Amino acid sequence: NDNQTALIMIFGATGDLAKRKLFPSLYRLFEKNKLSNKFAVIGVARRPLTNEEFQQSIKDSVKSASENEDRIEEFASHFYYHSHDVTDSDSYATLKNMANELDNSYELNGNRIFYLAMAPEFFGPIALHLKSDGLTDVTGFKRLVIEKPFGHDLESAKELNNQIRTAFSEDEVYRIDHYLGKEMVQNIEVIRFANAIFEPLWNNRFISNIQVTSSETLGVEERGRYYEKSGALRDMVQNHMIQMVALLAMEPPIRLNTEEIRSEKVKVLRALRPVEGEEIHKYFARGQYGEGTINNQSLPAYRQETMVDPNSNTETFVAGKLMIDNFRWAGVPFYIRTGKRMETKSTKIVIQFKDIPMNLYYQTEQQLKPNLLVIHIQPEEGITLHLNAKKAGTGMEATPIKLNYANKGIDGLNTPEAYEKLLYDCMRGDATNFTHWDEVALSWSFTDKISAVWENTKDKSFPNYASGTMGPKAADELLEQDGFFWWPVTNLDVDNC
Ligand code: BG6
Repeated sequence: NDNQTALIMIFGATGDLAKRKLFPSLYRLFEKNKLSNKFAVIGVARRPLTNEEFQQSIKDSVKSASENEDRIEEFASHFYYHSHDVTDSDSYATLKNMANELDNSYELNGNRIFYLAMAPEFFGPIALHLKSDGLTDVTGFKRLVIEKPFGHDLESAKELNNQIRTAFSEDEVYRIDHYLGKEMVQNIEVIRFANAIFEPLWNNRFISNIQVTSSETLGVEERGRYYEKSGALRDMVQNHMIQMVALLAMEPPIRLNTEEIRSEKVKVLRALRPVEGEEIHKYFARGQYGEGTINNQSLPAYRQETMVDPNSNTETFVAGKLMIDNFRWAGVPFYIRTGKRMETKSTKIVIQFKDIPMNLYYQTEQQLKPNLLVIHIQPEEGITLHLNAKKAGTGMEATPIKLNYANKGIDGLNTPEAYEKLLYDCMRGDATNFTHWDEVALSWSFTDKISAVWENTKDKSFPNYASGTMGPKAADELLEQDGFFWWPVTNLDVDNC
């Protein structure tokens, strides 16, 4: 496939993302022969490095992915380095020459991918320079891959989008939401649309509520400066959480292509009930981690982390109730929760079905457990269907059972990493698993109303959850007021059955 021939320019090539995710993912594609031999990468970053030094850093970063030294050597030989000043046109001129030379020597057909993996304040200026300094005048395709955050709110996202759009059309922009590259997030669509038994039940007549949890044990790490201004709402809800909800709630697209799926997701986001002003307290709960223990390790409170204000009002946890006001979902709450320094690292979706009309097995000690469909996104990947069946023995008691599917990947090992799939999609020109401008804009306009309230009211209860717990009490109350509770994420596991 000719599309896989390209010159890839990675801005931010000495950064963490490039080393941890991008180089290893490219390498795995290379090793699986999913990358044509006709490719070259220019690493772009500020610090001075020779090509040799840069190639060494590539080898270091892919070492853990393979022991095949010859292949690694060959892979690294495709990498070049340009020490760059993102605000200086001369610097772009040199970069352009370098790109043209590689284009000729590797016969890349003028195809270019620009990957922005650096501080977001540079996204706009780089896009403008790429255009004005002629790097986007190409004979082949040009694509821009851009990391999050895409703006800080709707206003700044619009501004960024306008800057990008001077150089790239919407279908040339690949906005990364790495959750869309996760195997089991992509599986939501298949589970829903390739099975006869779910779709008829997938609505407000049969589903009582849906719970999406993405909990982390990590704290804010070295990212205090970014996180202080972002918080969990912008960092996780505006993108990953809302995207998962959109995939769960969308109508079946008429075809599985980028445009049709995008358009169905957009309809969900347009039906998302806006929450503003005082109502926020009814629909959302925020939290900030205090001191606590995870795996026997004592951990500091968020306010003690580096680059964090000792009186910080930033939330590290969000729980929310999203209502989708359309025919299919009217009345069904979609509860989401996400936070740092929680009890366990886990992303799971629990679809809770309504109770049966009448319980014939009330003589059993416990009430019948509702049917649940659990989609395990990470760390384990799989699906569990919770049913009731006869308890073995002489009686006629009902007991909960689980049907389990553990997703082990093609080679029985790990499924491909999100970045590997997303890079491959981008090389092939498939933007389905990327976010499009209208989704980004609708998401921001939803979360902006919440940030507006939170930023103007200091939460006096902070810190309100201990590290190593599942968040503040208010998150439980959010469900209790509707007669529900959070299904614990720890004993729904695929491997636990
Ligand atoms: C990123 C956030 O988008 O997602 C991080 O900026 C968060 O704060 C990360 O830790 C979580 O991703 P994953 O794949 O580990 O669930």
